[in-house]
Amino acid sequence: MSTNQESTRLAVTRPVSAAMAACELTHVPRTAIDIDLARRQHEDYEQALIRLGCRIERLAEEPALADSVFVEDTAIVLDELAVITRPGAQSRRAEITSIAAALGKHRRLERIQAPGTLDGGDVLRVGRTVYVGLSTRSNAAAIGQLGALLARHGYRVQGVPLGGCLHLKSAVTQVGPQLLLINPAYVEPARFADMQFVQVDPGEPLAANALPIGDGIIYPASNPRTAQRLRQRGLAVHTVDVSELEKAEGAVTCCSLILSA
Ligand code: GLY
Repeated sequence: MSTNQESTRLAVTRPVSAAMAACELTHVPRTAIDIDLARRQHEDYEQALIRLGCRIERLAEEPALADSVFVEDTAIVLDELAVITRPGAQSRRAEITSIAAALGKHRRLERIQAPGTLDGGDVLRVGRTVYVGLSTRSNAAAIGQLGALLARHGYRVQGVPLGGCLHLKSAVTQVGPQLLLINPAYVEPARFADMQFVQVDPGEPLAANALPIGDGIIYPASNPRTAQRLRQRGLAVHTVDVSELEKAEGAVTCCSLILSA
């Protein structure tokens, strides 16, 4: 794994688990996953992160934890601290142990406690506002805890209703300073004050998940019409084929935790 030691941007990743076929699925039908191909696609994704200036901190594989490649769900990382989540799916709770060990080297840690449940995929930070999707994975108790933890650092935490998709970041992600990529069938644009929007192509409902890194945007190759909409806005779209990760109800934000280091 090549790294860019001068980069100030760190991407924490974890390889695809040998158990990925047993992943949690909520809105996606179960189909056969080619694990070897999933691993190659994940490596290509890491290379895209490196090309955009990230240094990769790759954790050890968790061969018994099916969804453990989706590290985003285990923590909220801000400049001031990291909040270790309590994932909504019981099968995913053991993922946090190694994540806390890794992030503890870079940030002071806080934790979401029971009865709170929170997946990082439900958390979208825009400036000092932290939006949290009220999904099947994240609950009001966790939003209250996160609000108390982050208020002392000047962040405002706001719950957002959504439906039809797994996480808030399945429905909306940030692609520019005041620009969100959104599927309005899953979440109401009016929830995001003072923002502008690119709507996904109606034929690509799962196209709202994009990962901005520096001057570029890592984006799934499976959504070419929405990619074109992003390019028409002048955005530098770097496509990656993540077809096998999509079968596990994952996308591009899910596979890394990005932090300034
Ligand atoms: N398979 C991803 C998740 O459900 O958490």
